[in-house]
Amino acid sequence: MMMMEDKLLNWLKLVFISLMVLLFVSKIAVLLWWRPRKIEDHFSKQGIRGPPYHFFIGNVKEIVSLMLKASSQPMPFSHNILPRVLAFYHHWRKIYGATFLIWFGPTVRLAVSDPDLIREVFTSKFEFYEKNEAHPLIRQLEGDGLLSLKGEKWAHHRKILTPTFHMENLKLLVPVVAKSVTDMLDKWVTMSESGNVEIEVSEWFQILSEDVITRTAFGSSYEDGKAIFRLQARQMDLAAQAFQTVQIPGYRFIPTKRNIKSWKLDKDIKKSLMKLIGKRKENIGNVLPEKGPKDLLGLMIQASDSSPNITDYDIVEECKSFFFAGKQTTSNLLTWTTVLLAMHPQWQVLARDEVLRVCGARDNIPTKDDVVKLKTLNMIVNESLRLYPPIIATIRRAKTDAELGGYKIPSGTEILIPILAVHHDQAIWGSDANEFNPARFSEDQEFKPYDDDDDKLLSDDEEENVTQDVYEERRPNHEMDKERDSIATHLMLR
Ligand code: HEM
Ligand SMILES: *[C@@H]1O[C@H](CO)[C@@H](O)[C@H](O)[C@H]1NC(C)=O
Ligand SMILES: *[C@@H]1O[C@H](CO)[C@@H](O)[C@H](O)[C@H]1NC(C)=O
Ligand SMILES: *[C@@H]1O[C@H](CO)[C@@H](O)[C@H](O)[C@H]1NC(C)=O
Repeated sequence: MMMMEDKLLNWLKLVFISLMVLLFVSKIAVLLWWRPRKIEDHFSKQGIRGPPYHFFIGNVKEIVSLMLKASSQPMPFSHNILPRVLAFYHHWRKIYGATFLIWFGPTVRLAVSDPDLIREVFTSKFEFYEKNEAHPLIRQLEGDGLLSLKGEKWAHHRKILTPTFHMENLKLLVPVVAKSVTDMLDKWVTMSESGNVEIEVSEWFQILSEDVITRTAFGSSYEDGKAIFRLQARQMDLAAQAFQTVQIPGYRFIPTKRNIKSWKLDKDIKKSLMKLIGKRKENIGNVLPEKGPKDLLGLMIQASDSSPNITDYDIVEECKSFFFAGKQTTSNLLTWTTVLLAMHPQWQVLARDEVLRVCGARDNIPTKDDVVKLKTLNMIVNESLRLYPPIIATIRRAKTDAELGGYKIPSGTEILIPILAVHHDQAIWGSDANEFNPARFSEDQEFKPYDDDDDKLLSDDEEENVTQDVYEERRPNHEMDKERDSIATHLMLR
């Protein structure tokens, strides 16, 4: 009798285990095989196609190989950077048109570059879309702040922090920014006293934007904040290194040398921020409210006083988010604008004339009223943001079944918005889309500051023909390429 029962029990166990295995296998099959087929089918019926899905890896193999191929080739001397920076997008768009499907593993993304559809995603139908989940490494860097928050928590934080971006507050920041800039320029002048010097502007601009963000984020706690952001900058370097190696799932939990360093940094950052928050909280009681610009830290601490759901953790994460969002974006904009002005000296002359006209003598620091009068400079900055947008793409995820320009979008579909591609689209900007022409932003349609014959860059056809020799001769420095490529890596992992 005992024996029989044991046997039965063993048999039942076996059946149970087999069932579990079967369930697991079929779940995998549904997720990695059946569902992607169904989605491909759903879109193909609406006339949307794309490179075919491959089991588990989707199109990742092709994406990586297209990106590697593009970045291994010399970059011609031109602003036509889409084929290099978003090589996979450029390649498939030619085949499948402006709206097509790409598989980032088993995750489907619908690439959308029609401005009308993009407007729907961000404005008229925004309630159907939310941010997607960032790669864990990015997530750690950007923090649990505005950049990644969703729904109610996002709305709450956004309401608290919006005063930092009010015009009145930004105006108070003008002298703060001016101080950081003049300090930098003074150093350049000292450097150049000994003759010709080469200045790596991208490094200087990173220090500059870090400095300004530290002031906007920490205000009176600038010195303490600076030390914290130094740690965060090192954390960003470590993450950038991690991107360059092959990503094995779960790798970030293995105690490698780099990971141990990164964990320690994370702990130090948290500890210092908590200490700083404590210090500021003590001061709030006995110091009169500051007259200076409102800083992120002050606003968050103030809010935490009256709202129990703003915790110290939230404040720490919001600080990280600001740093991440503001530093590379701003320094990249400044760097590319400088490069563009160096490449197009005619515009340098126009910008310089305007600054001297508006601000007067060289020693006058621009006031808030001057800034709005710098029309030409504004056009140049806009053109720089168009050709070299610091954020080259973004993603939104359909929260529920949605409609987009008449297409039926199943819940969970991610919408890939290739900002860089929209900015270089000849259908939107005309045949000179890949040329630097700030005049396109002029209110005066006839604005033509110079004869642009000798400023012509290579046409797309000629470009594909540029040889290594020409490249080496015209561009001795490959740093620019590296920078573009690293931005592209960021997007891939977002
Ligand atoms: C040229 C400079 C900059 C560019 C081109 C830029 C671009 C962007 C873009 C495209 C987004 C939207 C991302 C998305 O939701 O998909 C964004 C969000 C954000 N940026 Fe910037 N940014 C710049 C500078 C800054 C600076 C200096 C700060 C802070 C000091 C900052 C803080 C933020 C924050 C907090 C968000 C999230 C907003 C929210 O979701 O409520 N950005 N930025
Ligand atoms: C946090 O508190 C505020 C007011 O105290 C409230 O409006 C908001 O809904 C709360 N947010 C969350 C996520 O609980
Ligand atoms: C630059 O772009 C911004 C944002 O689109 C716009 O508000 C501003 O008017 C533009 N400036 C010029 C000079 O076109
Ligand atoms: C590209 O190079 C090939 C071979 O040197 C030449 O025959 C062709 O005319 C060139 N095309 C352009 C657009 O310059």
